[in-house]
Amino acid sequence: MRSPLETPKPMKLDDIYALIADDMQQVNACIQARLQSDIVLINQIGLHIINSGGKRLRPVLHLLAARALGYTGPYHINCATLIEFIHTATLLHDDVVDSSDLRRGQDTANALWGNEASVLVGDFLYSRAFQMMVEIGNMRIMAILADATNTIAEGEVQQLLNIHDPETTQERYLQVIHDKTAKLFESATQLAAVLTGQPATTETAIARYGMHLGTAFQLVDDVLDYRSSSDEIGKNIGDDLAEGKPTLPLIHAMRVGTPAQAALIRQAIEVGGREHITAVQQAIESTGAIDYTARLAQSEADKAKACLAGLPDTAYTQALHALAEFSVNRTY
Ligand code: IPE
Ligand code: IPE
Ligand code: MG
Ligand code: MG
Ligand code: MG
Repeated sequence: MRSPLETPKPMKLDDIYALIADDMQQVNACIQARLQSDIVLINQIGLHIINSGGKRLRPVLHLLAARALGYTGPYHINCATLIEFIHTATLLHDDVVDSSDLRRGQDTANALWGNEASVLVGDFLYSRAFQMMVEIGNMRIMAILADATNTIAEGEVQQLLNIHDPETTQERYLQVIHDKTAKLFESATQLAAVLTGQPATTETAIARYGMHLGTAFQLVDDVLDYRSSSDEIGKNIGDDLAEGKPTLPLIHAMRVGTPAQAALIRQAIEVGGREHITAVQQAIESTGAIDYTARLAQSEADKAKACLAGLPDTAYTQALHALAEFSVNRTY
């Protein structure tokens, strides 16, 4: 047992990637190999989005969780790859739905090739992920991912229904971010428990870790949409307001702001557009709504870390701790 005085410094992101560098190299090779199709446009769009980078956070979480739980087989590479394919498919679809033209610091696929091509190549990646699941041949893995993708779709549709609706509650918002984002993080870590045949308590704990981390991650994404810069985050800022999307900074500012601030935000949600972005930014800062959202993200990250209590104290587990912190402190 380590004494509190010897508590190591939190790991940096580079240290985390270094821990699983060999696995990640195999995942990247698998991504390139499994993107292939005889249809040239699929290769073009697939390579465009994959080679634009991205944090590869979901595969990293899966690989770390698998190593933390002592996995020695080959299937974590396939799982990590197909999880990134599912994520990439949701991004291709998301940028169409959100009319976004910048992602990972590059023009989006929809901006370059059009909505139709983006939706259809997203479908290719989704179905390629399901082919890869079948190759693994584990019914529980298929069940978890079938449920996760179904839940993501529900979250995106519920979010669509919330658009331009200033009556959207914090509860409804939290359900959306759980479904559209946290669920895939949850699957990424839960699958590591399934691969290693853990008892139900461990499987639930590592799944909850992923779920809380994913919730923190989306809360921060919704803060960064008002606070970051497009250079830093590689996406356009203000897309959420432009769409009239009632995210938590807006919901909370309407709750605690002056009647004038509440009216401003209500109207911004109803109408959408970027016209009032500066006034809205000032309102969510001065009402403390940004801090409120960030604090909720921190409490989700703390819950995530608490779920790791039963895991062996290894560098992999420490890396999982550090990633929970990163999901809150990130600037991109
Ligand atoms: C973007 O996810 C979509 C959200 C859930 C906010 P990431 O921020 O993980 O995207 P990349 O893969 O690093 O580009
Ligand atoms: C993430 O929500 C949705 C997905 C699960 C793809 P956003 O729409 O906020 O994601 P970004 O900000 O465009 O990456
Ligand atoms: Mg989006
Ligand atoms: Mg979206
Ligand atoms: Mg966003």
